[in-house]
Amino acid sequence: MQFDGKRALVTGGARGIGAAIATRLGNDGARVVVADLDIEKGNETAATIGNGAIAVKLDVTSPESWQAAKAEVEKAFGGLDILVNNAGIAGRAAPTWELSFEEWKQVIDIDLTGVFLGCQTFVSGMIDQNYGRIVNIASIAGKEGNPNMVPYSAAKSGVIGLTKALAKEVATKGVLVNAITPAVIATEILLQLTDDQVKYMTNRIPMSRVGQPEEVAALTAFLASDDLSFSTGAIFDISGGRATY
Ligand code: NAI
Repeated sequence: MQFDGKRALVTGGARGIGAAIATRLGNDGARVVVADLDIEKGNETAATIGNGAIAVKLDVTSPESWQAAKAEVEKAFGGLDILVNNAGIAGRAAPTWELSFEEWKQVIDIDLTGVFLGCQTFVSGMIDQNYGRIVNIASIAGKEGNPNMVPYSAAKSGVIGLTKALAKEVATKGVLVNAITPAVIATEILLQLTDDQVKYMTNRIPMSRVGQPEEVAALTAFLASDDLSFSTGAIFDISGGRATY
């Protein structure tokens, strides 16, 4: 089992892509922390994973919540080897001039600041143990920009920049930091958008289908593993061919 002895935390791990990633890492031997705002669903998901998986309540936008989660992880597992910053929201699909400041701020807080806080909370421990794998879940929207999703596209571009910069800070310290950019994946996040918006995004996928959470989990597992050894600050595509770079 490639993750035997490894300890992993997945934000937004209660459902969707996060649950698929947490399940994949757990099935492959990792002890997993399902960290989510929705602790009830988080507990359910942790129970289905087994292998010592636990759930912790986490609001990725709050530094205090991150510190509390870190204390729980230290107590349960004694440290962390793998961090997957996956929690995110799409926000409301609307043109820029119709968005409120609060709508902008909420998406930036969860999708970008949440990733920054996660990295900041756990990277020091990874540096100290000279080992870590961080995988940030960005989006094709961060590369191409999806109209009617300006806050989301901006936040995900931010995650790409953050990943590239942090990776260079820790490149000689045993900590590899990478990001992935999915196109449309079949999860409940799509319910936040209009049918037209989902159609716009899906029509741009050359494979003519949406992706499945398990497909994202497979790529994430590779990036979280020791098979990854000479890639950091890299952005891995999982868009059914939509990305051209
Ligand atoms: P989802 O809506 O199915 O699940 C998101 C999870 O994040 C939920 O469990 C929710 O409770 C949790 N969450 C939301 N706000 C939180 C907060 N403040 N603190 C902690 N947890 C919070 O979404 P999905 O589709 O699984 O998305 C996961 C990630 O993948 C997101 O970052 C999303 O932007 C990204 N992504 C998704 C795509 C898709 O088409 N589904 C495409 C590209 C990227």
